Amino acid sequence: MKHSIALVTGTTSGLGYAAARTLAGEGWREIIVTGRSLARAQETAAQLAAETKAQIFTPLELDLDTPSSVQSALAELVKLGKPIDFLLLNAGLVPFKKRVLTAAGVEASQAPLIGHHQLTAGLLCANLLSPDARIVIAGAEPARGGVPMFKYTDVPAFAAKYHGGDRTAAVEALIRNEPNVRYVPNNAYADAKLIIAWWVAALARRLPSGMAVYAVSPGGATDTKVVRSAGPLLKYLFIPIVNLIPGMNQTPETAARRYLQASEFGTDVSGQFFASAQGKFSGPIEAQRQPHLLDHASQEAAWQAVVKVSDVDFSSAAPLSAVS
Ligand SMILES: NC(=O)c1ccc[n+]([C@@H]2O[C@H](COP(=O)([O-])OP(=O)(O)OC[C@H]3O[C@@H](n4cnc5c(N)ncnc54)[C@H](OP(=O)(O)O)[C@@H]3O)[C@@H](O)[C@H]2O)c1
Repeated sequence: MKHSIALVTGTTSGLGYAAARTLAGEGWREIIVTGRSLARAQETAAQLAAETKAQIFTPLELDLDTPSSVQSALAELVKLGKPIDFLLLNAGLVPFKKRVLTAAGVEASQAPLIGHHQLTAGLLCANLLSPDARIVIAGAEPARGGVPMFKYTDVPAFAAKYHGGDRTAAVEALIRNEPNVRYVPNNAYADAKLIIAWWVAALARRLPSGMAVYAVSPGGATDTKVVRSAGPLLKYLFIPIVNLIPGMNQTPETAARRYLQASEFGTDVSGQFFASAQGKFSGPIEAQRQPHLLDHASQEAAWQAVVKVSDVDFSSAAPLSAVS
């Protein structure tokens, strides 16, 4: 891929910041960096420029919780008029001890995917992705299971119990944390990252040939702000214990490099979820093959649920309400 224009979401701290800095080191010509407010994005761009001694960072306001903010960001990108080669959808969070819903009624850790879907669809519709663009979205190991303290929902069973077998309705219930979903923050996070893995598989089937999308877990990098809102058990017990185990934690730079590595992958592995080997949070990444991740019906149900909640149909990238 030519190292021309990259857009990185969630650059105000942690892995997004590290990724933007690393991209600069690799000779990218322009890097669009986002923050929830223009002031935060500008501050980040200035800090990155000072650190890297490169005037290549363009600040962009983007609050993924707020559809109007995504629309304004898209309008800015249309004004810039430069096709993006690498779209790094990094923003995300381990959610709060108490359930938080956005104004649009989306659970906080699910909200970045809804905003990222709106952004991606809008860029495709505006022809603002290069013909061989790479899209990488942040995943995490809990989506495949086997991570202590995190448990994803068995969607087919949940759908059968509460939604007459309708998996789309079941995924929507998870995204909105509806009353039949017991709120456990770590499980909400595992579900958010599982729905991301499914969304990626479904998006890959819809992208123009030449483009590719991957979910990539950066792995463990506890020197970021990712668990700032999480409960004390995770913050003060689980993470310190994990940090004591050799090879379970990495620097933000090493973790962010995984995103860049995936940006060089081919279209043959588009739609896959890459993460650490089973039982690890660092080291080489590999494609995840757990049957629940590869379940076609769940992938399509997740896609339909995201389309419904975001109110953005991919084929038109217009709000569904506007086209119906
Ligand atoms: N660090 C790890 O060990 C680890 C492991 C696996 C996966 N991940 C994933 O890696 C990604 C980056 O995490 P990190 O460790 O770098 O955490 P971080 O230091 O907290 O950075 C997260 C970034 O995302 C932004 N963000 C979050 N929600 C947003 C929203 N709704 N709209 C706009 N911006 C939003 C944050 O902005 P604000 O500061 O304004 O909220 C911040 O810039 C996340 O998706 C996370 O789930 C991290």
